[in-house]
Amino acid sequence: MSAGPEGVSTERGITTPVVGAVDPILDAIDPDRGRPPHVMETRDLTLGFGAKAILSGVTAPFARGTITALIGPTGSGKTTFLRTLNRMNDKVRGFRREGSVLLDGESIWSTEQDLFTLRRRVGMLFQRPNPFPMSIRDNVVAGVRAHRIAKGKQLDVVAEQRLLEVGLWDAVKDRLGDSPFQLSGGQQQLLCLARALAIGPEVLLLDEPTSALDPVSTEFVEHLLLQMTPALSMVVVTHNLGQARRISHQTMFLYDGNLVEHGPTAQVFEHPVHTHTERYVTGRMG
Ligand SMILES: Nc1ncnc2c1ncn2[C@@H]1O[C@H](COP(=O)(O)OP(=O)(O)O)[C@@H](O)[C@H]1O
Ligand SMILES: [Mg+2]
Repeated sequence: MSAGPEGVSTERGITTPVVGAVDPILDAIDPDRGRPPHVMETRDLTLGFGAKAILSGVTAPFARGTITALIGPTGSGKTTFLRTLNRMNDKVRGFRREGSVLLDGESIWSTEQDLFTLRRRVGMLFQRPNPFPMSIRDNVVAGVRAHRIAKGKQLDVVAEQRLLEVGLWDAVKDRLGDSPFQLSGGQQQLLCLARALAIGPEVLLLDEPTSALDPVSTEFVEHLLLQMTPALSMVVVTHNLGQARRISHQTMFLYDGNLVEHGPTAQVFEHPVHTHTERYVTGRMG
């Protein structure tokens, strides 16, 4: 019996589908068929800078198509952990790590996984909006161009679609050639979200994405993020406990160098297992 390139095995003329093989009909029903249930996971991940230990032994699966909130006091390592998930710490002076991070079951440091492809698959949105010094339209399609996903007139279509998707089209459609720095902070963050979405990531990492925004923009962004599941999986660092409760399916609590608690958000907030978690989620610990 042999498996052909189309992923079917043939024996005496009988064709049987191979689990996980490409099959347009089954893939249309369940595109995640045969893929690991966790889009990403860390295994015994230990992080530090020089002699300083930041986190030790973090083993955490990230369920596909869900939002995971990463909470914990300032300095607990949330940003360091998040940035490690798409290798943004690799070149930071003194950074060290042990353990692994898997994307779809494969190490993000494996030789097959080049950095350019990894950054396409795992996107990032930062605390402060960081539009590039180019037009609004060019911002949206910057990654699309770099990854050669579209070109020429197609770029205009992509720009319109993505700006529509983040609710920014009406506000900017008459000034696509203008600088993004005239936009409000909330609009700039939506523009950065449109840019991140334009290259079709599988995972989006967000580091306090609304902490610089007003309440109305915050609510709008939260609504958008929820709408983006289950097509997109997200890990969101947030100081806003209300936000973690509103938008996340899973919550991870980092404290004192460890992943103290990780579970369904309602459980972590309503029935925390650890006293440190309870003190944090009830506002008795900063
Ligand atoms: N590049 C770096 N070099 C040395 N220490 C760092 C670096 N980045 C962060 N740290 C330290 O790591 C710890 C965790 O920081 P961070 O991950 O930013 O925490 P959080 O996002 O939870 O506030 C802090 O003590 C911080 O000072
Ligand atoms: Mg941080």
